[in-house]
Amino acid sequence: MNLIDGKRIALEILDSLALRVERFPRKIGLAFLLVGNNPASLAYVRMKKKACAQIGIHSIVQEFAADTSQETLLREIDALNRDPHIDGILVQLPLPSHMDTLAVTRSILPEKDVDGFHPVNLGKLLLGEESGFPPCTPKGIQLLLEKTAPVEGKHVVIVGRSNIVGKPLAALLVQKKKGANATVTLAHSQSNHLAEITRSADVLVAAIGQPRFIQKEMVRPGAVVIDVGINRIDERLVGDVDFDAVAPIASWITPVPGGVGPMTIAMLMQNTVEGAYRRG
Ligand SMILES: NC(=O)c1ccc[n+]([C@@H]2O[C@H](COP(=O)([O-])OP(=O)(O)OC[C@H]3O[C@@H](n4cnc5c(N)ncnc54)[C@H](OP(=O)(O)O)[C@@H]3O)[C@@H](O)[C@H]2O)c1
Repeated sequence: MNLIDGKRIALEILDSLALRVERFPRKIGLAFLLVGNNPASLAYVRMKKKACAQIGIHSIVQEFAADTSQETLLREIDALNRDPHIDGILVQLPLPSHMDTLAVTRSILPEKDVDGFHPVNLGKLLLGEESGFPPCTPKGIQLLLEKTAPVEGKHVVIVGRSNIVGKPLAALLVQKKKGANATVTLAHSQSNHLAEITRSADVLVAAIGQPRFIQKEMVRPGAVVIDVGINRIDERLVGDVDFDAVAPIASWITPVPGGVGPMTIAMLMQNTVEGAYRRG
């Protein structure tokens, strides 16, 4: 078994981004909007802000009470859309249930949507156009695979069809391009014979949100296993894969933490720097 060291690969990316930030003629700015006090969301924003500081991006965090109206949030996004010092806008999800996530996501200018969740950016991803922003977690997974176990011609099985991980990852990996050209199966909670499907994978991606869901019997010996899951159990972070059981039979596997998570943050930084260079 070989460990895919997402932390090390992410650090290398951040180092090269720091040079691009330094060379850019003005300060690059990223705004975080945080609604409510979900502890996981607070932790994610803290980590993303730290990465900004590490590479020299100026970041601001706007915090809103959980009962803030959607109208207030949209007004703030509108102001940030027009702010010339802001290159990227990130609304930390999930939003409280009284807000319409898609309406909020759509209100961000596609050119500043560094999370890559705006329908315009998702459409460009589907069409294989490079001018949009790819969503950070799928792009991070694709890079990890490119650097360790290329997927060209391989059967990739993704378990989980969310709009932020499973679906965009499938769209990325089926493109007729370098780093893609995979045969992709997208499975979910309604898939029949799931273990049979996962056992047919050369590369198995788990994005389910259920701790240790992928058991050894579901994995073909020699497969590459990417664990996207972040589940908190007694203050510990656990993935969607039963790491101890699956690692001995996998050829490559990502740990949790230290696998996909750091790559997600590195890709957010990459999108922000790229956005600034495009805006000039
Ligand atoms: N590392 C990172 O940077 C990062 C980024 C994003 C998310 N995550 C983590 O990744 C995990 C998934 O996130 P998400 O936002 O994609 O989750 P999500 O929106 O809750 O989607 C979960 C997906 O898993 C499927 N699923 C649930 N139970 C299943 C079962 N028993 N068998 C087969 N499929 C099942 C669901 O199927 P249905 O569609 O049929 O309901 C759904 O498609 C979470 O642990 C999250 O914290 C990590």
